[in-house]
Formats: sequence, C-alpha cells, structure tokens
Amino acid sequence: MPREILLNAFSMNTVGHVSPGLWTHPRDRSTEYHRLATWTGLAETLERGLFDGLFLADVLGVYDVHRGGPDGALRHAVQLPINDPLLLVSAMAHVTRHLGFGVTANLSWDTPYQLARRFSTLDHLTEGRIGWNIVTGYLASAARAMGAEMAAHDERYDLAEDFMALAYRFWEGSWEEGAAIRDRASGVFADPARVHTIRHAGPHFHAKGIHLCEPSPQRTPLLYQAGTSRAGRAFAGRHAECVFVSGPSVPVIAPRVAALREAAVAAGRAGDDLKVFSALTVIVAETAGEARALEAEYRRHASGEGALVLMSGWTGLDFGAFEPDQEVRHIESDAMRTALENVTARGDPTRRWTVREVAEFVAIGGVAPVLVGSAAEVADAIEDWVDRTGVDGLNLSSVVFPETFERIAALLVPELQRRGRVKRAHRPGTLREKLFGRARVADTHPAACYRVRPG
Ligand SMILES: Cc1cc2nc3c(=O)[nH]c(=O)nc-3n(C[C@H](O)[C@H](O)[C@H](O)COP(=O)(O)O)c2cc1C
Repeated sequence: MPREILLNAFSMNTVGHVSPGLWTHPRDRSTEYHRLATWTGLAETLERGLFDGLFLADVLGVYDVHRGGPDGALRHAVQLPINDPLLLVSAMAHVTRHLGFGVTANLSWDTPYQLARRFSTLDHLTEGRIGWNIVTGYLASAARAMGAEMAAHDERYDLAEDFMALAYRFWEGSWEEGAAIRDRASGVFADPARVHTIRHAGPHFHAKGIHLCEPSPQRTPLLYQAGTSRAGRAFAGRHAECVFVSGPSVPVIAPRVAALREAAVAAGRAGDDLKVFSALTVIVAETAGEARALEAEYRRHASGEGALVLMSGWTGLDFGAFEPDQEVRHIESDAMRTALENVTARGDPTRRWTVREVAEFVAIGGVAPVLVGSAAEVADAIEDWVDRTGVDGLNLSSVVFPETFERIAALLVPELQRRGRVKRAHRPGTLREKLFGRARVADTHPAACYRVRPG
C-alpha cells in the first residue's frame, strides 16, 4: 500500500505570503485578506478538496533587514500589513466540519496563562480541530516594537521549554475530566474538589492558578513546530507532533526529516510520533502546456526585490547589500539558521546559489520546489518527493490566491486519490484523532506527565 500523503494549505493573514508581487495578478484575491468572506470561502474550498488542514503562518514584526528599513516590505506587501491569524478561526470552523487549523502564535511576548486560554477556547469552538504552531520569533523589529531586546537564538528555545511546561500544566493538570458536572438539580456547575490549582516555578515563569477553561476536546492543542537548527530539532523532538520544514531540494530536506525523527527517538518518543510536512508549490492545469503558460503568466508578476526582502528577514542577512551575481555564503545569525542553509553549501554541497538565483527562486513559493504540469505530472513529482524525503505531508502555498488552492482541489487531489495517496473522505474525530488516531498527546509526550488523575 502506498503511504497516504497529508495535505495542508499554507497561508497567512496578509497580502503577499511567500509569492511576493503576485498580489498584482488580476485574479489574485489576497488583497481581500481583511474580509471574513475571503477566509470562509477558502475554508469551504479546502474542506471540499479533502485538505487535512489550513496551516497559517504568522510573524510579529516587519521585514526591515533588507536595506536597513521597512520600505521594501511596505512597497511589495511582503507579509505586511499582517492581521492576527487566530481571529479567523471561529468563522472558518463555523462553515466546516473537518478541516484542521494549524495556527502560528509567538510565545515570546505572551504568557502561558493567556495563550492557554485562547487555544482552549478555540479547541472548544472548533470541536477539537485546533493546532498551535509554536514559534518564538526571529525578527528583531518585533523586539524593538515591544521595547525589549531579542533574546539570542538558543535562549529563545530555553524560554519556550519553560513556557510549554507551564502551558501543559494548565491544559492537562488543572481540571479533572468531568469536573464540570453541570448539575442543575444541586445547583453545582463545577466540583471544586476536582479543579486543581497548578503551581509552577521555572527559570522564566512562576505561576499559581487554575486554568480558566474547562477541558476542551483535545486539551493540549495539536502541536506544530518549525525550526530545524540543532536547538530547534531538539525542541521538536520533545514537543512537536507535527513539524513544518522548508527547503529547495531532496538533498536539503531528506537529512532534516531523518534528523527530526532521530531527535524524537532521543527524547524517548517514536520517529513516527512526528508528522513532518514540507513546503511545496504546485502550478497545475488540464495539460502540461497550459500549466507552463500559467507559470509564465505568474512569473511576470513576481517581485525579485520582494523575495530578497523576505530572505533578508528570514536569514538576518541584508541581501540588498550584495551584487546580483555574488554567491551566497553561510554565516551564523540569530534569525532562522536553516533559512540560509537552504541556499548555501551547508544545505547541499553540490549546489551554489547567486543572489539573483535566490531572488528568482524565492519569488514563487519561498524556499520550496515549484512543481508545474498536468495533474499526472505533478502527482508523479509529489510521489517522488514524498518517497525520497520521507515527509508525511505537504504545506501547499498559493501563488495566486485562492486560485492555486482551487486548482489543487479540482485537479490534483482527484489524481492523488486515484493513486491511493490521498483519502477519499474526511475521517471522524478531532484533529489529533484524524492524524494520529488518538484523542490526547501520546503517553511519551512531555505534556502527558502533567495529566491530573481523578482524586
Ligand atoms: C519552514 C519554517 C516556517 C516557519 N514559520 C514561522 C512563522 O510562521 N512564524 C514565525 O514567527 N516563525 C516561523 N519560523 C521560524 C521558527 O519558528 C524559528 O524561530 C526559526 O526557524 C529559528 O529556529 P531555527 O534556527 O531552529 O530554525 C519558521 C521556520 C521554518 C523553518
């Protein structure tokens, strides 16, 4: 039996996600990102198209590394303006029954008490379809806007470790199952003996309190993480249930996937306790010729400068300071370490990239392969990619929004279904049940040790 491929749509509550400049295409509707109907319409398309989830990226801060300021980001709408993604979820949940939501939220400027409540609320309202993409942020511009300094790379992961321990206590350790007895006859809503005050004294957080929400279907939301440096992999190995990776080729991605599974095993979990999703862009049409024409049409709207604004923000390195034909070389930065590895010999020793090549490549779909062709051609390439990288699923971004997703739903998904690679119907249950067949985090997951036992 061929292995099933999980499908997420990859988007962001903004104009230009990972295809800068494409907002100028006459059919692109991402400029309507600030209208609810844009998102409810997308959710309906994805549910109909048998997508497992919508993965929403988010960044706090502006991309101002390129030429030392935010002008490029503003001019090309490079993930700016950007609205809060969590606030989209209730409306999209209302028009769907199965679609999962993996939503990015930055913990560096939040407290576990408040964040735990927001995700519990959404877990209730979505009936267990919420996931949290745990990020700590990589933009110094956000730190400055908060009146603070950005913590160094590995320190951010230390903070995240303590944050998670406290969040797990709230989700798993405060309310016993069934503590909300809702007994109209006795007039008792919740049994005080079964709701526990949690106590936490960690290096970053001290707390004593009761979780504000009664237990939600999943309790701890399905946990996503994206970060593949050494510290990032160790964090994923301990905490993530799903990991998002992005890179241009099999030689870059396959070792990352293997290293992530090893990190899970090192943390006392199983390699397949992690579902790894990789970024991919698909331009699919009825025929190969139409698909290539579509790609050419899209490329006329792509912004190379916008791509360098993105890359500068991701890597912390000002790509505007280099000549177009200069080769990109690795330096260690405090931003996303693997973002630079993607286009240097660190990621793939056989491949060299100039600044111009990076601009062209990143302008459509960021640092991910672009597959162009008929449904059969793209499905061949996807099967090959999945089998050679070892990923479990794909985060598919749009080039023209939401046209790309509509084409995938109409043309590609039926082809992958024919090959037995995509399910033919949604599975019942919560997001975790659909993906892992279990209601709660695995017993080997660190959240499990905070579970409150009856009595
Ligand atoms: C594929 C990918 C997607 C990411 N998406 C986001 C995001 O939406 N928001 C965010 O703040 N950080 C995002 N990050 C950044 C990571 O959460 C992390 O802060 C960063 O990669 C630095 O960690 P690393 O050096 O371990 O990769 C992403 C990273 C990767 C590799």
